[in-house]
Amino acid sequence: MRHLLSITDLTVEELDELLYSAADIEENPDAYAHRMEGKKLATLFFEPSTRTRLSFEAAMYELGGQVLGFAGASSSSASKGESVKDTGRTVSCYADIIAMRHPLEGAPWAAVQSARVPVINAGDGGHDHPTQTLADLMTLKREKGRLDHLKIGLCGDLKFGRTVHSLLEALSRYPGNEFILISPAELRVPAGVMNALKESGAAFREAESLENEIGSLDALYMTRIQQERFFSVEEYLRLNDSYILDEEKMRLAPRDMIVMHPLPRVNEIDVKVDEDPRACYFKQVMYGKIMRKALILKLLSEAGTPDRPGHVMITTGRRCKNPRCITTTEQGLEPLFFPVHQVMMQGVLTRVPTKYFCAYCEMESI
Ligand code: NCD
Repeated sequence: MRHLLSITDLTVEELDELLYSAADIEENPDAYAHRMEGKKLATLFFEPSTRTRLSFEAAMYELGGQVLGFAGASSSSASKGESVKDTGRTVSCYADIIAMRHPLEGAPWAAVQSARVPVINAGDGGHDHPTQTLADLMTLKREKGRLDHLKIGLCGDLKFGRTVHSLLEALSRYPGNEFILISPAELRVPAGVMNALKESGAAFREAESLENEIGSLDALYMTRIQQERFFSVEEYLRLNDSYILDEEKMRLAPRDMIVMHPLPRVNEIDVKVDEDPRACYFKQVMYGKIMRKALILKLLSEAGTPDRPGHVMITTGRRCKNPRCITTTEQGLEPLFFPVHQVMMQGVLTRVPTKYFCAYCEMESI
């Protein structure tokens, strides 16, 4: 069975294939209108959503399939204490494919342990959001003509913004891209993502001022400060207005820079910017639906998923310390870790595991 939990479950060739397939779907929608007849998609959304859930559902209907599911934890048996693993197993009896969103990081990894059908991660806590990345890649390809040699500014909540994590993982695999990570010190990219970025060899630097950086970007990816992930209201209120993209700042931007945002937008992009031809965030929404059609077709026509590439998972006797990790609540989940080896000089060159990252939420385990 093929799942999509992290964007790195797809190779660069597969991402390119999906983009190619999306272009064909867009041009010839009628040719695809019956391809999923007799198939059902379950959308299990334990967390609020407008675009992701509805675009999955629209995608499946447009492919001739059917949809069932729920749009909130309170209307599912999660509210009675049912585990993610049991939910995954149960829904496999009703549907051919599952799209799941959950507030806990790594939850879809728990679901695949019992699901009998492909599982798509539609956003897990502040961790990953691979299908938003598919929408983002199609936007860049269409609006900039390429996915390589781009200078991209990512701005706002880079700590909890899961769309940023998946997008960085995807774009760092294409040559020549450069990332400017614009955030307040408190909301910088987390260690696991930073680690992957360093390993990829992509050029990047951290910055705090949007004004100073906007003038040299090919694309600006704005994000919402993720209120629901903060432990303290005061901290959220202090950081909420960190970045507001308005007409004045847009005057500093190149004429061919595009503005992206996964949406929902709160106040980080002034509504007046919507009229600027460089604003692409509503196009992103349309591209997201088309890429989800391509993804559903791919997952339901393929078998076999590689384990997360390049990683060996081990048990260490430790438990993940991330309070938002699925392993903190779910019973019967074996704690697993990716060891990260560093070369040490001790007379000889040695490779020893010096850091461990949880295999579910990818947070560093101290
Ligand atoms: C994003 C998400 O849910 O992570 N929205 C989306 O899926 N398009 C971004 C956000 O909520 O800020």
